[in-house]
Amino acid sequence: MVTEQQSELSEAQIAVHWREEEYDFPPAGFVAQANAADPEIRTRFAEERFPECFTEYADLLSWDARWQTTLDTSNPPFWKWFVGGRLNASYNCVDRHLATDRNKAALVWVPEPEADGTVAVTYQELYRRVNEFAALLRDFGRLRAGDRVTFHLPMVPDLPVSMLACARLGVIHSQVFGGFSGGACGERIADSGSRVLVTMDGYYRNGELVDHKVKADEAVARAAELGQPVDTVLVWRRHRGQYASRAPMVTGRDVFVDEVLRDYRDAVVEPVSMPAEAPLFLMYTSGTTAQPKGCQHSTGGYLAYVTGTSKYYQDIHPNDTYWCMADIGWITGHSYIVYGPLSLGTTSVLYEGVPTYPDPGRPWRIAERLGVTIFHTAPTAIRMLRKLGPDEPRQHDHHFKHMTTVGEPIEPEVWRWYRDVVGKGEAVVVDTWWQTENGGFLGATLPALEPMKPGSCGPGVLGVYPVIYDEHGDVVPAGSGKAGNICIRNPWPGIFETIWGQPERFVQIYYEKYCRNPDSTDWRDWPYFAGDGAVQAADGYFRILGRVDDVINVAGHRLGTKELESASLTVEEVAEAAAVPVIDEVRGRAVEMYVSLKPGVTASEGIERKVAQAIDTHIGKIARPMHVWIVPDMPKTRSGKIMRRVIAAISNFGDVGDTTTLSNPEIVDSIRHHVQAEKLARGQTPRQLTPQEADEIRKFGNAE
Ligand code: WTA
Repeated sequence: MVTEQQSELSEAQIAVHWREEEYDFPPAGFVAQANAADPEIRTRFAEERFPECFTEYADLLSWDARWQTTLDTSNPPFWKWFVGGRLNASYNCVDRHLATDRNKAALVWVPEPEADGTVAVTYQELYRRVNEFAALLRDFGRLRAGDRVTFHLPMVPDLPVSMLACARLGVIHSQVFGGFSGGACGERIADSGSRVLVTMDGYYRNGELVDHKVKADEAVARAAELGQPVDTVLVWRRHRGQYASRAPMVTGRDVFVDEVLRDYRDAVVEPVSMPAEAPLFLMYTSGTTAQPKGCQHSTGGYLAYVTGTSKYYQDIHPNDTYWCMADIGWITGHSYIVYGPLSLGTTSVLYEGVPTYPDPGRPWRIAERLGVTIFHTAPTAIRMLRKLGPDEPRQHDHHFKHMTTVGEPIEPEVWRWYRDVVGKGEAVVVDTWWQTENGGFLGATLPALEPMKPGSCGPGVLGVYPVIYDEHGDVVPAGSGKAGNICIRNPWPGIFETIWGQPERFVQIYYEKYCRNPDSTDWRDWPYFAGDGAVQAADGYFRILGRVDDVINVAGHRLGTKELESASLTVEEVAEAAAVPVIDEVRGRAVEMYVSLKPGVTASEGIERKVAQAIDTHIGKIARPMHVWIVPDMPKTRSGKIMRRVIAAISNFGDVGDTTTLSNPEIVDSIRHHVQAEKLARGQTPRQLTPQEADEIRKFGNAE
């Protein structure tokens, strides 16, 4: 519902000015072979054909029982897709390819140490490994359909094997990004109610064998504190038979997977036929509160959606070599490294390490050596590779037909480098906008049919109808030059089913704002609120401006300000904490923390370090702030709320705006002097903010 209070914010609707970029057209060679080359496809997915149009995606799968109802809207907004249908995701990603492609590589794994060479896992081998591990999970792990199991795994083939083994049993997997701390993993274990944790002893990152098993002990301890006991920790070994961690194995709880697997050699597990709406996995993401949200994805709708979009938008053919350089610990990896590509029976490349190790030529060497045809990455990686090795791609004989970007807005100059230098002008570039909650793409161009426009994700994808609303719920028309909240007018099969254990929050966060009638079972009354600001050009293309809630997108990773703040507040000396975004040339945004101390405590570097350390411990190193600023007091409104936009402006050398409504306006100058003088002393000279950036900073913290 649009409330009075929200409508006061309507002045937040802004005019956005930038130069419209020119269209760019796909190379003829790409168009000639594209999966979606017939313009009729748009008619097939026209709004009048909704929801039946999505049968085309579901028909790409093998079903044990066909569905009776394509979309059930009887309990809004808990949409159910393909109701009555039954299928198994592991069967679809593995077994069904055996008849024709048994000896084709399903996965090609590239270890970070270059001397180690690559490892190909054929569909036959994947079938064996998935079956054996499924037998272990069922008989040794005592897991059944509907149980949850948490993974804290790095980028190794054991991760997709573990996912597919769960899917075979109908067990719900919840993979936590390997870079997250043990504490963060423990919180997700507790929230999902997992009694089994699957982890690994170590993995390579930036040339080092990282000790990962230590985090399992922290995770189990944290989960126990929160009331969730873990009785079994399954430890894969990076080098079979050798243990790479200093953390002792706990008797009766921890086992080496390679040892236990000996008992399950050649075991075959019948895929469990699951209802389409049975949960396939949980994926945690950040939002406005400190507690991460477990996005629950379905089996039938999700798999149909990622398969369909992989076919038409990623243009995956069975004979492609497809490389998505994301981590499977994020939604991109689930949908577009594992489920989508394997469902289509292609070869999916997995890279263990960081893109710039040992040098920024590494991705192009991998692409050349493996003959990668489709490449998929995030703007933050493109910016880093461009900064460190602007000419490197020219040194390599790789040839992409298709390149994707995902996760953040991409600057037009960076986009052009990607097309011209990485893609050598031979590849089509597809900018894909979507979110953890969505399962698959929401905004992108159909690569052979719709021209590209740098910096813009394009129109809504097939069968998805976005709209921009202002704070009153009125449509902001295309071409008006005004920004607003991007929403999706209709459900689609990849949409998550709920927030695990918190159905009220699911309704409140994503649907309440623009719901027209809470009693209606017509999907038209329930637009999905994405939490992103956007503008729509006259041609219908969307340009995504970034989050409108308190989420900071650091290198494509969503960090909730509340999570950062509650981690900082675990430091004894800290009284108040506020996280703000700073514009960062490579990572898009970085985080700065402001903290004030309890009475009588003196500021010190030691406290700054403790705050940074607390964030490492509670979230992980990816969240580490650029600076921790200790301030005498926070700028506050008369009702005592921290004005985050004021400190965000200071950190970005922007305009602090009107401070007359503060209860302590005098504090602003003292904070500014302290922070900006120190930044200048460290050579962190500011650059002028673009109008969009200035606007983002001006609105930061509004979500409260
Ligand atoms: C942002 C990642 C601009 C957006 C798949 C969204 C983008 C958040 C794009 C979701 C894009 C994602 N252009 N911004 N192409 N793709 N975003 O959940 O703010 O990790 O809400 O999902 O990233 O991040 P998440």
